[in-house]
Amino acid sequence: MTKNHAEVLIIGGGVAGLSLSLRLAHTGVNVTLISKDTLSEGSSLYAQGGIAAVLDKDDSFTSHIEDTLTAGAELCNPQTVRFVVENAPKAIDWLINNGVEFSVIDGPEYDGDDSQYHLTREGGHSHRRVIHAQDATGREVATTLEKLVRDESRISILEHHIAIDLVTAQKLELTGSNRVVGAYILDTKAGKVSAIAARSVVIATGGASKSYLYTSNPDTSTGDGIAMAWRVGCRIANMEFVQFHPTCLYHPHAKSSLISEAVRGEGGRLLLPDGSRFMKQHHKLEELAPRDIVARAIDYEMKLHGLDSVFLDISHKPKKFVLGHFPNIYKNCMQYGFDISKEPVPVVPAAHYTCGGVMTDLNGCTDLANLYCIGEASCTGLHGANRLASNSLLECLVLAKASAEHISTNLTQKDKQHSIPDWDESRVTDPDERIVVSHNWDELRRFMWDYVGIVRTDKRLERAAHRIKLLQEEIRDYYSNFKVSSDLLELRNLVTVADLIVQCALKRRESRGLHYTLDCPDTKDVARDSVIVPSNYAAHSNSVSW
Ligand code: FAD
Ligand code: SIN
Repeated sequence: MTKNHAEVLIIGGGVAGLSLSLRLAHTGVNVTLISKDTLSEGSSLYAQGGIAAVLDKDDSFTSHIEDTLTAGAELCNPQTVRFVVENAPKAIDWLINNGVEFSVIDGPEYDGDDSQYHLTREGGHSHRRVIHAQDATGREVATTLEKLVRDESRISILEHHIAIDLVTAQKLELTGSNRVVGAYILDTKAGKVSAIAARSVVIATGGASKSYLYTSNPDTSTGDGIAMAWRVGCRIANMEFVQFHPTCLYHPHAKSSLISEAVRGEGGRLLLPDGSRFMKQHHKLEELAPRDIVARAIDYEMKLHGLDSVFLDISHKPKKFVLGHFPNIYKNCMQYGFDISKEPVPVVPAAHYTCGGVMTDLNGCTDLANLYCIGEASCTGLHGANRLASNSLLECLVLAKASAEHISTNLTQKDKQHSIPDWDESRVTDPDERIVVSHNWDELRRFMWDYVGIVRTDKRLERAAHRIKLLQEEIRDYYSNFKVSSDLLELRNLVTVADLIVQCALKRRESRGLHYTLDCPDTKDVARDSVIVPSNYAAHSNSVSW
């Protein structure tokens, strides 16, 4: 059994975890960075459209703030929104200084000055303010940061290591107030569990969109960090706000194939099979309405006309323009037989982003001392009831900087590292019923899609709640009897986040932003967060306030 110690343990190698690791290392802090797959495999790597920031002289912080508040359906925390928006230009400078290459202006607007970055538009933005690297912004940012992280001697990297659970002082019966002291980690290649003791632990594990059958997300988005934080007593907020991206390619083999909102930002139109446009009937901003409205409009039209999909068309633009702006989307669609420069492509909405998560303040602090959470796993109050496009990578970057400062300032005051008992290896039996785990995964993802999707009702939510209870019992049984595997751990976490989504959805007696229910179609005058408090919460003195 290997026992490890880390000054700071960061769980997750997306843009949140990578940028935090670098920032900490640059202030002289030693970091252990773990990722359950290869280092940067996660949503960040697949981000397409870009990063929202006020970079144009005709744009303003006020406008970015207003757009974020409007998209968030009045539920955002205005203080958080201002903080993130005002720190956005500095976050972009930091990326550029670290070697990230964003697309520059070309075509008729080009005036020979390479420093003029091309800014695209996306739904809900009243200005062009999305800086991007063609249509593969996430890959450019994540791979650039990953190279720097790999060269940094203060960062130890453990790939194919999945965090199982956080370890608290309470669990070890230590004196003093409750706090996080480390985590149990499974080396998925060696099949061995070890404990890592740490002075601070950061959850940067991304979202939970894999709880839905159809999603734009990679396999890593199983809500592990949200479930781990919940189990140790952190409050979780606003999980009912699952963002469905309006335009994922509809094809039986096109798993997780997003077609960026930037396609609509650059003039792409949504069409019914007869070629007619329909967004005018749903919102004055038409194709560029906030994402919740576009996804719901597509869902409505599909149900009204009994369609398998609607269509997205950018073929009225010159081929050179389409290939110049969207080379990867073009290639990907070609692979499935669709030439976006010549014809409309079939699209459907799919689960894309988890607006809720672990409640944190503007330093990434959670309810439990020594535990931080940043990125999609967190709920800072930025997104409210619906995230504005391209505000997510931005939040990862801004909160990584803030929490790096908080962690490095407070590290010396933290108590010594505690030794953590070995993992209980009495569960030695390999799960001979692996097929049951995979059936449970499928069952969960299907009923979440059917009952907790774009349009909800109390009856459907209660059906989902009932099935979740049954699955929880089965999983408890597996978990206490069998050797842990990543599939089993992820299933356990998915069921927990599904439960949190349904609990929040049942609590909200109105429709707001991404939560739309036929039983309460109106929006209340006063917006309130849905906060779920775990039974082991009361003990803390560290609770974050919003
Ligand atoms: P991720 O990038 O998902 O990284 C999570 C990391 O945690 C991964 O390394 C994963 O392996 C690891 N991990 C998870 N659980 C564990 C565990 N138990 N133990 C160890 N490691 C674990 N947002 C924008 O702002 N602009 C865009 O253009 C944009 N486009 C998008 C396109 C797509 C296709 C998708 C899926 C998302 C897009 N988003 C976009 C959203 C954005 O990419 C994500 O919200 C953001 O990248 C999340 O970053 P993160 O670091 O929090 O999580
Ligand atoms: C996209 O490119 O459409 C995704 C942007 C986002 O999720 O913010």
